Amino acid sequence: MRQKRPANIPARIVETDTVKIARMASKFSLDMGFPVHLIGRPGTGKSSALWHIAQDMGGGYCEVSAQSRSTKGMFQMLLGTLGIADDHKYISDLSDDVYRCFMPINRYCSEAGCFVDVPHFLVVDEVQTLEATALRELLRVQEKCSLGLVIAGNAERLATTRRDAATWAQIESRIGMQRHLPGPSICDCELIGAAFNVEGKDAYAALSAYGTRTNFRDLVQLLETARRMSGPETGHAVGIRLIHLQNALSTLTARTGAMKLLNPEDA
Ligand SMILES: Nc1ncnc2c1ncn2[C@@H]1O[C@H](COP(=O)(O)OP(=O)(O)OP(=O)(O)O)[C@@H](O)[C@H]1O
Ligand SMILES: [Mg+2]
Repeated sequence: MRQKRPANIPARIVETDTVKIARMASKFSLDMGFPVHLIGRPGTGKSSALWHIAQDMGGGYCEVSAQSRSTKGMFQMLLGTLGIADDHKYISDLSDDVYRCFMPINRYCSEAGCFVDVPHFLVVDEVQTLEATALRELLRVQEKCSLGLVIAGNAERLATTRRDAATWAQIESRIGMQRHLPGPSICDCELIGAAFNVEGKDAYAALSAYGTRTNFRDLVQLLETARRMSGPETGHAVGIRLIHLQNALSTLTARTGAMKLLNPEDA
């Protein structure tokens, strides 16, 4: 089922290192039947990458919120990715529905010339918000339904919720693969800069200096501000140059020394 794109996810994404790692991890989880945990600092592009990957793979994407952090809320969230609104009162009824709906689908495979079981693929984002028991139940669904499952979140917040040591130990033993996602590389900054029509060697050097010291969110915010500033009053669209990046940064922050972030020499 094609999901409606949330407002915080860009319509198109650039193939950054984060996207490549997330794509490889998603495929690994689906092929091997192991859950994969992707960890990244805020703004590393987890949600953007995983929403698009889930859609490309015909899977579902969901983000844990205050309403879905309990086991009951988590089950309802999973069913929601299939477009099912389930208001069963009892957790046991909800879990029955989840197990039934997420069992592999028996489909004819023309390559194999026979019917095969095709597992579902799911992404659960902001997983650090889940209660420990809800996360354990999620991993149980993965195991019983042979789901391809990627869980993603911020390590910082996950670490502060380790209350139930036994449950966490059980959870960790069930996670097949864990990867830390990198921040923007120089190559990532150049790719994003090209997508925003940045012009000039000096502008690319400044952009790379800025991106590698911040994150994708700050980088894209700078470029969006610079794009607005580079559109002359005449209405002609021109490329983003170094001066536009400098003006955009001084508009975004009044912090002293912020301009150094654009200086490749100031690493
Ligand atoms: N591959 C990409 N292509 C284009 N823009 C991107 C890409 N990755 C991230 N961005 C930009 O960076 C912003 C932040 O990315 P995203 O929300 O995916 O990060 P996150 O790791 O999920 O952050 P958080 O931990 O705060 O949830 C996006 O809104 C988007 O503008
Ligand atoms: Mg996110």
